[in-house]
Amino acid sequence: MGYTSILTAFVAIFLLADRALAEDNPSSLLWYSAPASGFNSALPIGNGRIGAMIYGRIDQEIVNMNEDSIWSGGFTNRINPNAKAAFPRIRSKMDVGDLTAAGDDWLQNMTGVPTSPRRYQAACNLTIEVGHGSVQDYNRTLDVSTGLQYVKYTYNNMSFERRAVASTPANVVAFHYNGSQPGAINLTVALQRSQGNVSTTYDNGLILLRGAGTDDNMYTFTAGARVVNTGGTLTTNADSISIVNADSIVIYWDAETIYRYPNQASYESALKDRLNSAADQGFDEIYQQAVQDFQGFYSRATFSVGSSGEAVGVETYKRLQNLAASQNIDSDSELLTLMYNYGRYLLISSARPGTLSPNLQGIWNKDFDPPFGSKYTIDINLEMNSWLADINGLSESLTPLWDLLGLMRQRGQQVASDMYSASGSVCHHNTDLWGDCAPVDSGTQWTIWPMGNAWLMTHVIEHYRFTRNATFVTEVAGPLFNDAVAFYEDFCVLKDGYRTNYPSNSPENSYFIPSNDSVAGQQTGIDTTTQMDRALLWDLFTGFIELSNAVGSSNGVEDAQTFLSQLQEPIISPTTGRLLEWSQDFNETEPGHRHFSPLFGLHPGHQYSPLDNDTSIFNAANKLLQHRIDSGGGSEGWSRIWSSALFARAFNGDAAVTSAEVLLTTYTYSNLLSHTSNTFQIDANFGIVAALNEMFLQSHTDGIVHIGPALPTTRLANGSYTGWKSRGGFTVSAQWQDHHITGATISASVDGPLKVRIEGGRAFRVDGQSYGGAIQATAGSTYVVTF
Ligand SMILES: *[C@@H]1O[C@H](CO)[C@@H](O)[C@H](O)[C@H]1NC(C)=O
Ligand SMILES: *[C@@H]1O[C@H](CO)[C@@H](O)[C@H](O)[C@H]1NC(C)=O
Ligand SMILES: *[C@@H]1O[C@H](CO)[C@@H](O)[C@H](O)[C@H]1NC(C)=O
Ligand SMILES: *[C@@H]1O[C@H](CO)[C@@H](O)[C@H](O)[C@H]1NC(C)=O
Ligand SMILES: *[C@@H]1O[C@H](CO)[C@@H](O)[C@H](O)[C@H]1NC(C)=O
Ligand SMILES: *[C@@H]1O[C@H](CO)[C@@H](O)[C@H](O)[C@H]1NC(C)=O
Ligand SMILES: *[C@@H]1O[C@H](CO)[C@@H](O)[C@H](O)[C@H]1NC(C)=O
Ligand SMILES: *[C@@H]1O[C@H](CO)[C@@H](O)[C@H](O)[C@H]1NC(C)=O
Ligand SMILES: *[C@@H]1O[C@H](CO)[C@@H](O)[C@H](O)[C@H]1NC(C)=O
Ligand SMILES: *[C@@H]1O[C@H](CO)[C@@H](O)[C@H](O)[C@H]1NC(C)=O
Ligand SMILES: *[C@@H]1O[C@H](CO)[C@@H](O)[C@H](O)[C@H]1NC(C)=O
Ligand SMILES: *[C@@H]1O[C@H](CO)[C@@H](O)[C@H](O)[C@H]1NC(C)=O
Repeated sequence: MGYTSILTAFVAIFLLADRALAEDNPSSLLWYSAPASGFNSALPIGNGRIGAMIYGRIDQEIVNMNEDSIWSGGFTNRINPNAKAAFPRIRSKMDVGDLTAAGDDWLQNMTGVPTSPRRYQAACNLTIEVGHGSVQDYNRTLDVSTGLQYVKYTYNNMSFERRAVASTPANVVAFHYNGSQPGAINLTVALQRSQGNVSTTYDNGLILLRGAGTDDNMYTFTAGARVVNTGGTLTTNADSISIVNADSIVIYWDAETIYRYPNQASYESALKDRLNSAADQGFDEIYQQAVQDFQGFYSRATFSVGSSGEAVGVETYKRLQNLAASQNIDSDSELLTLMYNYGRYLLISSARPGTLSPNLQGIWNKDFDPPFGSKYTIDINLEMNSWLADINGLSESLTPLWDLLGLMRQRGQQVASDMYSASGSVCHHNTDLWGDCAPVDSGTQWTIWPMGNAWLMTHVIEHYRFTRNATFVTEVAGPLFNDAVAFYEDFCVLKDGYRTNYPSNSPENSYFIPSNDSVAGQQTGIDTTTQMDRALLWDLFTGFIELSNAVGSSNGVEDAQTFLSQLQEPIISPTTGRLLEWSQDFNETEPGHRHFSPLFGLHPGHQYSPLDNDTSIFNAANKLLQHRIDSGGGSEGWSRIWSSALFARAFNGDAAVTSAEVLLTTYTYSNLLSHTSNTFQIDANFGIVAALNEMFLQSHTDGIVHIGPALPTTRLANGSYTGWKSRGGFTVSAQWQDHHITGATISASVDGPLKVRIEGGRAFRVDGQSYGGAIQATAGSTYVVTF
């Protein structure tokens, strides 16, 4: 053996050891010693657009396949034809205090027809008969730092291995089967869809399943699988493809729909091209490219709160059980890092330029009629899906949101005009892939809410604050904001000197109608200019002015300033001392309601802060937050993690961590996906990343880079992060020890003022000089914080 080959051998051993370490990293690995017993223990992979939920069954493998634009049908105009006439009548009813009649009229004459937009639907099942019986040494893993999913076991004294990866560059999902001996692989492969108009063809290694949305035969798609064997014999059957005695087999899968193509011929030609070029590349090349592409996003940010030591030597779901027993995340702090990494993994795997925004289930859905239609609920859920993107350096994953907002703008113009005779654009509390903006469902506490667009606009302005991208303002943000602002300028009439937004509600709580004590417990959600309305409008109009200033436009700015001056301030209830939720001091029907709508101004909004304002409103908001939690709030995955972010904004790191612990012990399945109403909903998986961000870095108040704003005092004593973004165009890395920040670096991507705050206002140095106020930062410079 010559020197070079010894060196090569060393390098190879070193690389293997390194690889083994990465695979065993308890901060990025999920593993299980048995196949998934159902969807909630299966493992998700995705390339942004297409995804797979893999069960790892031994004898008959099943994979739930998804494509983001496979929904139940095409666009239909659901605007209620009675709406325009009903609207002024409903306002009159509210003007004379007849809330019940107004609510009834709204639900009968203004809600959408039909009441629901389209539903997201599963593409098909990929079924793979493997023919294995009792196996040993079973192990099923997902490495969220690479996106590689493994199944390994021993059967008949042979080792078998399955690998799966979703590739964005190749635009396919690929499954690789092999064994320790040549000729050992036998598979029978099929695609199946149990509902809708379906026809399937099997032809020499190619399976094509043609289907349609179950509401609409014209809304069509084709899913395809190419089966490629090395060695052995491939046979095409009437309803499957079987291969015997192969050395290895790869299955490539894709689906294409009429959403992105003019007709079936064009999307099928794209589909076949993708499958053919994937087969030409082969699994290993596809895998290498997929990992490289994925890590280009994943490696931008890190978060660590120390090693869990021995605690991680157990299966992933047992780590959750152990946490439930210890009730202390310090017993397995890497589980929190794993959740941080998993949330980013799921975002990178379900949102890329050109894909649709992740819906209530991201892209991972097994049903035809999924919970809440697996659509876009926009009175918290789609927003929560987006909180983590900019701050963790994943801004590109918001481009699907900008596309959706562009569609909603057009649909919403029609809704504004046909429902409210108003200009601009409006949306209610849900939308779908078509940007449907008509009201959804039938309940005063959610349906009557003309604020969906206003909330989504906060993401547009926040994206500018993080990136300072002026092109984005002129090309994307400007047109969206113009229409959003125009709607409320029309819709919000002046009454007693205040801009009045009605009918509206405070999602999704309701209250007892005070004048109807005689009618036992009569409730409604309908109201006028709720606290959340005011906070959203404040955010929208201040954002509009900020964007206008950014590009030197004075168009509409004076009107916006006037509007703001006519907006009522947050109100504190004289009887409870809490922030007032509705226009009056009504009694809420659910004191522990899961939605924290009246606290929007605290998080994700920024209408008040103890750093900017006198503390009375902040204290009243805190009091309301505590009241909600004490009364049983935080009672769903997303709700619990919203409370975590709210506590972080309230500088209460201990309560923020407790809420994250409760999410993990109460609202998380064994595959670490979070749940709501006992079904998978992805928002809290994204939300926990954002809540962790809020504990250790905030920048929402007037450009202050606030490092360690809510460090917990009883948990997570030591930790660090890198690559986190802050508003103003900065990238921040920081470390803490024994509950105090020990150092940080801040890099500027644009010229501008840099204001820094550490914890509750500790003294510190920047580049060796003691900090006494804003620094004029220059693009490309890095500023080092020491003590
Ligand atoms: C399963 O594989 C992972 C990754 O290599 C490893 O950490 C874990 O210990 C394995 N489990 C078993 C039971 O071998
Ligand atoms: C009180 O209840 C009655 C009977 O349901 C209803 O007609 C009336 O509109 C209610 N009043 C208010 C203020 O909602
Ligand atoms: C709905 O509108 C019709 C008129 O189009 C009206 O007669 C009816 O009373 C309204 N429904 C309710 C519940 O107010
Ligand atoms: C597996 O190998 C062991 C030891 O080599 C042998 O005793 C056993 O019969 C083998 N089992 C099968 C199923 O081939
Ligand atoms: C399957 O193929 C991969 C890649 O070539 C190889 O690393 C692995 O050892 C094979 N698995 C088995 C069980 O032989
Ligand atoms: C694969 O199928 C062939 C033909 O049925 C059979 O002879 C062989 O034993 C099978 N291999 C395994 C590993 O089950
Ligand atoms: C996939 O298979 C399951 C049964 O295993 C079935 O309930 C489900 O409807 C199937 N999915 C599709 C898209 O056909
Ligand atoms: C069902 O699909 C087939 C094949 O794609 C198509 O020819 C047929 O028209 C469809 N049926 C309906 C009712 O749309
Ligand atoms: C700035 O925004 C424009 C429009 O959205 C986009 O095309 C461009 O890529 C963005 N620039 C950067 C550096 O992200
Ligand atoms: C609210 O509830 C409290 C206590 O249950 C009761 O005393 C009060 O009268 C109610 N107020 C209104 C406006 O209904
Ligand atoms: C809090 O202070 C900020 C910055 O001065 C200001 O824009 C905002 O209106 C204030 N909020 C309230 C509720 O007074
Ligand atoms: C945190 O770090 C300090 C200093 O290295 C060490 O003394 C302490 O034990 C660590 N705390 C925890 C909980 O690991």
